[in-house]
Amino acid sequence: MARDSVSEQNGGSGDTAALRDAFGRAMQIGCAVGGRLPEVLSADERDLLLRHFGVLTPENCMKPGPIHPTPDSFHFEEADRLVAFADAYGLRVIGHCLAWHQQCPDWFYAGSRGEALTRLESHITAVAGRYRGKLQGWDVVNEAIADRGEGLRDTPARRAIGDDYVLRAFEFARAADPEAELYYNDYNIEEPGKRDRTLRLLEQLENAGARIDGVGIQGHWQLDQVPFDQLRAAIEAYRQLDLKVMITELDLDVVERPDCGADVSVLRSYTLAEDIYREGCPAPVLARQAEQYARLFEIFSAGGVSRVSFWGLHDGHTWLNSWPGPRTNHPLLFDRDCRPKPAYAAVLASAGRR
Ligand code: G3I
Repeated sequence: MARDSVSEQNGGSGDTAALRDAFGRAMQIGCAVGGRLPEVLSADERDLLLRHFGVLTPENCMKPGPIHPTPDSFHFEEADRLVAFADAYGLRVIGHCLAWHQQCPDWFYAGSRGEALTRLESHITAVAGRYRGKLQGWDVVNEAIADRGEGLRDTPARRAIGDDYVLRAFEFARAADPEAELYYNDYNIEEPGKRDRTLRLLEQLENAGARIDGVGIQGHWQLDQVPFDQLRAAIEAYRQLDLKVMITELDLDVVERPDCGADVSVLRSYTLAEDIYREGCPAPVLARQAEQYARLFEIFSAGGVSRVSFWGLHDGHTWLNSWPGPRTNHPLLFDRDCRPKPAYAAVLASAGRR
């Protein structure tokens, strides 16, 4: 496995200041975890996770397909284990996600509007109801806004139910777990066009009586292309709707990829020559990544972002090693051996400058 030789200079993770404390109570720091807990984590990974992160998001196991694979069966085991692990160590959990067009079985939205609505309701009632009172919040609807053009993305849910599937999902979630915070979550919603479509959707939902507590800007950005100014403006615009703003899936990709946001249906292959950092990430790239992470956290702090969750624990556990095709990536704050990268120190330093 490739190693980040530069980060070896930063010492082991045991003597590092905890990220989860760096920004005080104002901003929670979390990460996504995939697989069965606790055995998916090595001892070093478990220490890293417990030291730096205060809130967990299940990377896959609570999504419609994994948790509800057939109309009459649920696979709760992995999600139950994550919730139990979090409970044992005093971590919070974000449910992810109740309605999404990816990782969702074909039968889910088949048939008439009434049938699809009934299925959506029974899914949300079963899943959010099972964890009632145990989660901090739910990503209720994920990626419903079209990337281009007006309105909602063309999905099976929209085709079967209509645009109000979003409203109904929020209503069903509220009924299933009245205490949980409920979020709308999407990528590229700092980009002005998609931001304005998102603002309109959120206003419509609130006018229709839905209680929405927050909006999640996913934050799957690429090195040297981070839209800092757009992000600053978007955070402010969402805050003006009186919503919590969270960065829910943060990573900073260092290997070039097509301009496709985080749409997992867009794929490409990488040749060996294009897998440029398979032997490790060069020091100048790590330095640019550190500087850009620090600028991001300055914007998050100044904008009153209430939670920042990284989409993975370390560079060995990130979807960006396999999407949009297999390659070796280095997008997070810790390397494959759980050692802090320059970006970790830069983020901590940004906390000190608040
Ligand atoms: O679990 C199966 C396994 O049984 C099978 O053998 C294997 C073969 O391909 O696939 C495994 O499922 C994979 C799953 O991750 C678990 O590893 C899926 O193929 C793969 O598509 C899936 O990718 C996930 C992706 O969402 C799916 O859409 C990524 O791990 C996950 O990081 C990613 O997360 C999304 C957020 O939920 C929403 N925002 C974008 C973000 C990144 O795409």
